[in-house]
Amino acid sequence: MPLSWIFRRHQRLKEEMKEEHEEIPKPFVWDESFRVYYDNLDEDHRKLFQGIFNCAKNPGSAQVLLDTIHVYRDHFVSEERMMKEAGFSGHDSHKSLHTKFLAEMISFQLPLDAETLEYCKDWLVHHIKSVDFNYKGKLQWKSEK
Ligand SMILES: [Fe+2]
Ligand SMILES: [Fe+2]
Repeated sequence: MPLSWIFRRHQRLKEEMKEEHEEIPKPFVWDESFRVYYDNLDEDHRKLFQGIFNCAKNPGSAQVLLDTIHVYRDHFVSEERMMKEAGFSGHDSHKSLHTKFLAEMISFQLPLDAETLEYCKDWLVHHIKSVDFNYKGKLQWKSEK
């Protein structure tokens, strides 16, 4: 199979995926379209956007990356606790997506390159709208904070 054919096919697949994919906000900040209607989680999600935004501004900073990882970890813990307490059936598969992403973040090399930052942005946008949105209306209203 010619390489050019594989390349073109790959490009086509990427374009098709983009059509289905959620749009990445520019600048990279939370907006109302990401609301899950649990105030503590929406507040956390704002911080997740801010974390990646900070990393993009300081791609060489281990401290900024570490702070961002902590913000993600704390959010994942809160979200998982709320899903667990509500007996939400998607808890386990959702948790494993969190765990996988955290492991990826921990293994990032500094400075963060454009591809890695784009991956993080895409992950967050996709995760909130395609995964977190599944628990909308199904958790308890109790805020953990
Ligand atoms: Fe999540
Ligand atoms: Fe979330």
